[in-house]
Amino acid sequence: HNPELDRLLQAYEWSAKLYHYLLKNTEHGRAAMDYLRSRKFSDQMIDQFQIGFAPDRWDTLLQFLERRNFDLAEMEKGGLLSSRSEGKGYIDRFRGRIIFPIANRAGKVVAFAGRILGEGQPKYLNSPESKLFNKSRILYNLHQSKASIRKTRQIVLFEGYGDVISAWESGVHNGVATMGTSLTENHASMMKALADEIVIAYDGDRAGQAAALKALSMLESTGLRVKVAVLPSGLDPDEFVSQYGGDRFREQIIESAVSTVKFKLIYLKKNHILLEEDGKIAYVKEALQVIASLHSSTEREVYLKEIASELELSYDSLKQDCNLLRASMQ
Ligand code: GTP
Ligand code: MN
Ligand code: MN
Ligand code: MN
Ligand code: MN
Repeated sequence: HNPELDRLLQAYEWSAKLYHYLLKNTEHGRAAMDYLRSRKFSDQMIDQFQIGFAPDRWDTLLQFLERRNFDLAEMEKGGLLSSRSEGKGYIDRFRGRIIFPIANRAGKVVAFAGRILGEGQPKYLNSPESKLFNKSRILYNLHQSKASIRKTRQIVLFEGYGDVISAWESGVHNGVATMGTSLTENHASMMKALADEIVIAYDGDRAGQAAALKALSMLESTGLRVKVAVLPSGLDPDEFVSQYGGDRFREQIIESAVSTVKFKLIYLKKNHILLEEDGKIAYVKEALQVIASLHSSTEREVYLKEIASELELSYDSLKQDCNLLRASMQ
């Protein structure tokens, strides 16, 4: 029991309520509300995820906390206020930003992620690490998703807050996200304790797919079963839901998640022009590296046959090359 932590938890709880109220019920929140609507965030999701807005002023939260007799130095350390750059005193840390409260497993708000309205840098401003908030130990939305995770023994892992929220609205209630930083060993072992299978649903851009490749080997090494949801190249999950709707998202993206081998093959293929002989040969070489390392001969056969038919090659020659490679790998 730590009174300083209790005060900070209280401050976060009340600040989240204040920002949510300002978003929904005041003129300050109008532009933010329009922005969220334009991105198809529903009222129901705004409530459920307690989304808020921090007005573009220096002292909205400062005055609120002062009136409630919080120790301002403590609030600065906890990440709700910033020190003035000149002179004494404090200002609001979050200004002109949409607020996504981040809760711990018990559902207590321990940090905020603040998104700028529209374009600008940084796109997201997070609370700093504190005694309450350790990025490498927290998964966004775990407190709400754990019931569904317990039932399905599956977790869907996203990159962003908006992805988790859109997925929830589409009926995917076992989604979580890391806090932008990459997945840590800590996250992986937390997930291993809760589930048997992870579906990685990262953004469809290069960065997202490269991150998925890294994440999958970390997750597999803990003994989790891993699948990868493949997004069209320009879209992240939230954008996919906006464009094509929740049903298609569930069926075509989440339920159609592919094996990690399949994902690696898709990933490698993107680097080559298969219509050219050089490209075809280079792709096959890289693909064989992946397939040759599979222990199950059935699995090897399945993937070799797929490649054979796709590239109009004979299964026999692929198998021969694969076996040569395996021999050299021993
Ligand atoms: P939207 O543009 O609002 O849809 O955000 P996004 O979640 O799609 O963002 P993006 O795909 O660019 O990044 C994925 C995640 O990385 C975000 O949800 C954040 O957690 C994190 N992230 C992105 N940009 C920043 C940043 O500027 N600062 C920090 N701290 N995190 C970021
Ligand atoms: Mn939505
Ligand atoms: Mn991205
Ligand atoms: Mn994204
Ligand atoms: Mn997005």
